[in-house]
Amino acid sequence: MTKQNPVIEIKKDIVSIITDELIEQARIASITKQDPIIRVKKKIGSIVTHELIEQAKLAASVQTAEYAPGERSALLDEIKVLLKQQNAVLVAHFYTSPDLQRLAEETGGYVADSLEMARFGTEHSATTLVVAGVQFMGETAKILNPEKRILMPDKGATCSLDIGCPVDLFSEFCDAHPDHTVVVYANTSAVVKARSDWVVTSGIALPIIEHLAAQKKKILWGPDKHLGAYIQKITGTEMLIWPGSCVVHEKFKASGIQKLKKQFPDACVLVHPESPEEVIELADVVGSTSALIKASITSDAKQFIVVTEPGIFYTMKKASPNKIFLEAPTGGIGGSCGSCMRCPWMAMNGLRNLAETLKTGNNEIVVEESIRCKAAIPLKRMMDFAKNRAISLKGKGNA
Ligand code: 13P
Ligand code: SF4
Repeated sequence: MTKQNPVIEIKKDIVSIITDELIEQARIASITKQDPIIRVKKKIGSIVTHELIEQAKLAASVQTAEYAPGERSALLDEIKVLLKQQNAVLVAHFYTSPDLQRLAEETGGYVADSLEMARFGTEHSATTLVVAGVQFMGETAKILNPEKRILMPDKGATCSLDIGCPVDLFSEFCDAHPDHTVVVYANTSAVVKARSDWVVTSGIALPIIEHLAAQKKKILWGPDKHLGAYIQKITGTEMLIWPGSCVVHEKFKASGIQKLKKQFPDACVLVHPESPEEVIELADVVGSTSALIKASITSDAKQFIVVTEPGIFYTMKKASPNKIFLEAPTGGIGGSCGSCMRCPWMAMNGLRNLAETLKTGNNEIVVEESIRCKAAIPLKRMMDFAKNRAISLKGKGNA
C-alpha cells in the first residue's frame, strides 16, 4: 500500500481547522473592536445630512424673503410693543441678521457670543428671554433661568455640532472612558450637557482645559474636532476627541485664504477656532466671535480677512466703519461666496417669526427638570469659572 504524502494529510487537516466560520468570526470581531471614533464618524455622516441642511435653508428662505412695502417697519413696531408688554428682552447672537442685532440693541437687549448671551440672560430682570440664535442657546438660557419663559423665533434652528452628537452614542463613548473628565462645547443638547462634567464655549475653552490639565485630569472632549485639536495643540494636553464639526467653518479653505492674502498682504486674518487646522495656521488672531470683534477694533490693521459666519460683519463694520472687512473664501480658488457661508440655522431667525412667537407664545423652550438640574451643574461650573477669572467679559477670551 502506497503511503499518502504526510504534507497532503496535514494540508487537509489545516483546511478543516481554518474554516470560513472562523474567518467570519474574526471579521465581525474586528468590526466591533474598530476604533470607536471611526464608528462614530460613520454614524455622524449619516446624521448630519445634506437634506437637513437644505431643510434649514428652506425654512430660512421664508424669513429672508423680501418684505412687502411697509412690512418691515410694521414688524419692527409690533415687536417693540410686544417686548414691552410682555416684559421680554431680545438676546441675539452675532450671526443673526442685522435687523435682529439692531433691534436687540435698540430695545435694551443684547448682541453677543454664546458665553455672553448666557451671562446676560442670568443678570437681566426680564421675565421672558427671547433668544435669537440656535437651539442650544435657548436651552442654555432655560437651564440657567428655570423661572423665566424662554422663547425662540424658531425652535428648529439647530447646529451641526449638536445634531452630530446624539446622547446615546456620546454616552457610550464616555462610558468606555470612565477615568476621563467629560468636557463638552456649549453647542450641544441639554441631555449631552447633563452627561458632562464641564461645559465650555469657544471664549473660555482654553483656560478651562489648562485648569483641568494642571490637575492632571484626562480629558474627553466633544463634539467639535477642530476646536478640540486647536486646544490640544495650544495646551499640549492629550484629549480624546469626538469627531463632530461645524458645517459652516469646515468649508473654509487655506488655499483660498492664501490667495486673498496675496491680494491684501497687510490684511489681518481673523479665524474662529471651529475652522480646520490648516486654516487656523494662517490666522493672526484665533478666537470666539467676541474676541474676533475685539481684535478688529484694537488692531492697527485697516483690512481684515474674516474667517467666520458673515453675520459678524454687522457689528465689525459698525464698530470700525473706516476699516475694510473681507469675507474669507470657502473654495480653493479664491472666489468668495457670502450667501453659502451663512449658517443655515442662524438664518432661520427673522422678524416675521420673532413677531409670531411673541404674539402666540409658541416656540417656548422646555427642558425636562431632571435633565435641566443635571445640565445646570457643568454650565454653572463654567459661569463661575468665568466670573472668578473675570474671563471673556466682552471678548477677553483667547480662543
Ligand atoms: P461663539 O461662542 O464664538 O459665539 O460661537 C458660537 C458658534 O456657534 C460659532 O459657530
Ligand atoms: Fe453651529 Fe456652525 Fe451654525 Fe455655529 S455656525 S451654530 S457651530 S452650524
